[in-house]
Formats: sequence, C-alpha cells, structure tokens
Amino acid sequence: MGKIIAVANQKGGVGKSTTVVNLAAYLGSRGKKVLCIDSDPQGNSTTGFGIKKKSVKSSTYDVLVGKNRISEAAIETEFENVSVVPATEDLAGAEIELVSMDNRVNRMKMQVLTVRNDYDYIFIDCPPALGTITINALVASDSIIVPMLAEFYALEGLSQLVNTVKIVKSNYNPALEIKGILFTMFDARLKVANDVVAEVEKYFPGKVFETKIPRNVRISEAPSHGMPVMYYDKSSKGAESYELLGHELLGEPLELPKKKRRGIFSFKKKK
Ligand SMILES: Nc1ncnc2c1ncn2[C@@H]1O[C@H](COP(=O)(O)OP(=O)(O)O)[C@@H](O)[C@H]1O
Ligand SMILES: [Mg+2]
Repeated sequence: MGKIIAVANQKGGVGKSTTVVNLAAYLGSRGKKVLCIDSDPQGNSTTGFGIKKKSVKSSTYDVLVGKNRISEAAIETEFENVSVVPATEDLAGAEIELVSMDNRVNRMKMQVLTVRNDYDYIFIDCPPALGTITINALVASDSIIVPMLAEFYALEGLSQLVNTVKIVKSNYNPALEIKGILFTMFDARLKVANDVVAEVEKYFPGKVFETKIPRNVRISEAPSHGMPVMYYDKSSKGAESYELLGHELLGEPLELPKKKRRGIFSFKKKK
C-alpha cells in the first residue's frame, strides 16, 4: 500500500513543488513507483516534469470535481517510474466550486484510495493557501512534509499550518502525522538560519529532516528545462541534497558513497 504524503506550506516560494519533483524523481530512480498529484493551479510540478499544460486533457481539477478518475488523469513522465496528475489554471476555480459540493473535503481522498495500491509513494503538491484544496490533500494523506525557509517570519507561518493540521486530525484524519520539516534554500553560514533550525527543533523534536536543501542554482534552472535536477546536473549539490533526502525518507544512511553515487545517477531519461 503506497504512502500518501502531502507537501504543504501556505507560503509560496518555499520549495514545495521543487521538493515534489526532485524527491519523486530520486525515489523513481530507485525503483519506487511514484505518483505526483499537482494540486496547485500554477502547475509548477507539472511543468517541472516537462509536461506542457496545453497537452493536458485531464487534470487534478477533473479529478476533484469527479469528471475523471485519477487513473484516467495520470500521465507517465519521461522520468523513470514517475507519473503525474497535472494541474492547469482551471484548478483555481475548484477552490470555490468545491464549497457547494458533497464531501467537499473528502474528494481527493476518495480518488487517491482508488490508486493507492498502484504506487509506492503518492505526493500531493499543495497550493500556497490553507483553503479547500489543501484541506483535501491533508484529509487524503498519511503524513505531511513541510518545506520551509530558515527565516525569522517562517516560524509564524509554521504555527498556522500546525493548527490546520490539528483541525484536520481531530475532524477528519486522526492518523495524519508530520513526516518532517524540510529546510530549503538553506545557507548554513547564516546565523539566523541556524537559529531558526534550533527553534523549530525545540518545538518539533525529531521532526526536522537532518538533510537541508542548499540554495543551488541548478535546482532553479532545472524546471525551465522540464527536468528534475538529478537529470539536469547529476553532480550538482542540489541533486545530491535531494538524493540524501530520499535516503532519509527511506530510512537509509545519510551518505553518498562515490561508487554508489555513480550507480544511482547512471539513469537516463526513458524517451
Ligand atoms: N534549493 C533551491 N535553490 C535554489 N532555488 C530554489 C531552491 N528550491 C526552490 N528554488 C526556486 O525557488 C522558487 C520557488 O520554489 P517552488 O518549489 O516553486 O516553491 P513553492 O512550490 O513552495 O511555491 C522556484 O523558482 C524554484 O526554482
Ligand atoms: Mg508550488
């Protein structure tokens, strides 16, 4: 039975889509079957996998309003073992349409359960809001990964998100847990960055991923080529950091032995 993980933070630009794309690509390269459900109308994880929005016939919008099933909307990407349910702009309308629908917070869950056995990991890339779509994702998920920047104001946002998680837990999904808080665009040389990590570790002991994703230009270039960073520049710090995060998620040692690294990164695009 696949693990369902929402990647959520109501702040935009904290690395949610980047984390979905790159973590999925790495796990796929390790033989895990992965589905990414792009739930942000901006569609950044859709385009990050090189899928042209114009070519999309069925999307997360159709899935949420019940027009299509996930199995009909999922597209195989060019990258090993990774499929995507794409998002297009029409998803913005779902936020409002859902309010008047039956089971408005359970719609994602009902759909995801139908494909749970077909994948090892299902990631849901959330929009930058705590609205109905994000609630749908949290209701559908086993756990949540929270990417965040190591900035002072990030702490306030975190407590808001944690409140929402509590509400979802007590009303809809008691098993929901925080898988981990992931610091992205991290600069270990900055005192404020280390202070924020220490503060978050204090409030969420054991919940901060040991892996920190550094700010890395290759990570930000890769989406414009429609590729995860490990396919764009396999030896970049960005690719390595998402590989380490993959190790951490799989419960493996946090090291990158040279020989093994060559093995892992010998994968090529499928087509
Ligand atoms: N580790 C990183 N280093 C450099 N740029 C990054 C990194 N992570 C994300 N970015 C860039 O920051 C921007 C926001 O990231 P994104 O994943 O789209 O955030 P979100 O999905 O939370 O809105 C994008 O342009 C992305 O390419
Ligand atoms: Mg995003």
